[in-house]
Amino acid sequence: MPVSDTIPATDSAARDERPARVATRRRLLMCRPRHYDVTYSINPWMNPERATDNSLALRQWEGLRDLYIELGHTVEEIKPVEDLPDMVFAANGATVVDGKVYGARFRHAERTAEGPAYLRWFQEQGYQDVLWPEFINEGEGDILTVGRRVLAGTGFRTDIRAHAEAQEFFGLPVTSLTLVNPRHYHLDTALSVLSDDEIMYYPEAFTPGSRAVLREMFPDAVLASAEDAAVFGLNAFSDGRHVLLPAAAKGLHTQLRARGFEPIGVELSELLKAGGSVKCCTLELRER
Ligand code: ARG
Repeated sequence: MPVSDTIPATDSAARDERPARVATRRRLLMCRPRHYDVTYSINPWMNPERATDNSLALRQWEGLRDLYIELGHTVEEIKPVEDLPDMVFAANGATVVDGKVYGARFRHAERTAEGPAYLRWFQEQGYQDVLWPEFINEGEGDILTVGRRVLAGTGFRTDIRAHAEAQEFFGLPVTSLTLVNPRHYHLDTALSVLSDDEIMYYPEAFTPGSRAVLREMFPDAVLASAEDAAVFGLNAFSDGRHVLLPAAAKGLHTQLRARGFEPIGVELSELLKAGGSVKCCTLELRER
């Protein structure tokens, strides 16, 4: 089914003043948290001393997967690998645009084996245009597509040279953004794509120069409060109409509703213990 197929609205948005939002069907890749745990710490959210409840993590993850399916999206699953507890964060596994797969190369030794594991999945699925990267980049954690433009994060994980590598590979303009707050170590923890030309973000997570760039490119962006950013409210997934995001990000829910989106609160507390939420668990497979 072509990705541009629209999903019929379930309620009559036509009644109100807000712009009608149209959802498009997406193909998503997810990884069941079968071996999920917090056994090391590579970001400030991770505390290996604190217990994680694996069966709760599984239930919460299944809730997200089921929600995607209910909304009309297709969810593919990659087999989780033992000893790769962070593999549940599929967003980091690659970046896929126009059916082209830009592989991930992880910053930390604990996650390096995930890069080839994800790349193998794409090869097995018959993807032809697959690039094993020269530079460190953590997939859609730091490389976000907004329509025909790409925003790329650096500062903690992704090497800025990967931005040029991605631009050359995809043939799309890439804008570099520098992150400064270790609690927002990936771009997808500080900025979220809402539609082909709209984003929401937390300005304080970026350098002054990057903030200015974002203001220039997206003057009407939704700006997140410190409270909403702190509960990972920006780690969201939007299909153009429905925005799935942490339930606790109340302010963002209100702002999104005011813009005609349908925010849907998701509870992923167990995965937040590793510094991940909705978007981290979701890799979008964009066809041409
Ligand atoms: N524990 C993982 C890490 O620090 C979490 C990754 C979250 N993924 C994301 N797309 N932000 O690498």
